[in-house]
Amino acid sequence: MTRDRRAAHLALGAVLVLALAGPAPSAQEPDRRQVVALPPAGQERVLGEMRAMLESVDAIVRALGTDDLAAAERAARAAGMAAAVDMDPGMQQRLPPAFLALGMQTHRAFDRLADELKAGPTTAEALRGLAGVTANCVACHAAWRFAPAAPSR
Ligand code: HEC
Repeated sequence: MTRDRRAAHLALGAVLVLALAGPAPSAQEPDRRQVVALPPAGQERVLGEMRAMLESVDAIVRALGTDDLAAAERAARAAGMAAAVDMDPGMQQRLPPAFLALGMQTHRAFDRLADELKAGPTTAEALRGLAGVTANCVACHAAWRFAPAAPSR
């Protein structure tokens, strides 16, 4: 084997070793999220709130696409603290404090975004503000889940 070919073999070997040592992509990683234990009615309330927040995110992105800051502000405000207050206290107490805190922080972030939108930001500034909200969605979804539904009721 010539020197050049041996060098090529070594380089190929190194690439293979690096590829094998990397994180193995797997579609079936075990679910390590913590479970929030709520009765079905409570879960439904929270999931309803989730869908409303997603609607707000959708409406904000849409409004920014047409430079309609007033509509974006309204959509952000709709998911602010006012959307959180009517949760019944009994259910609030059943939520893990860290989960509740992150949820409240998210509603406050929507209010802060609404204030920013009112001040007439550039689209880039508005999107950075929105990213501050969606980071909360991602962080909480990565850490928590509800228990899977019972097979039949
Ligand atoms: C404090 C925690 C928390 C935050 C913050 C949060 N979520 Fe969720 N969300 C959850 C949990 C828990 C579920 C249920 C997931 C599961 O069981 O796999 C969920 C589910 C959802 C669902 C599915 C609803 C359904 O009907 O099944 C949507 C949509 C959603 N979230 C949107 C959002 C959006 C958008 C944001 C941010 C603006 C957000 N969530 C922020 C905890 C959170």
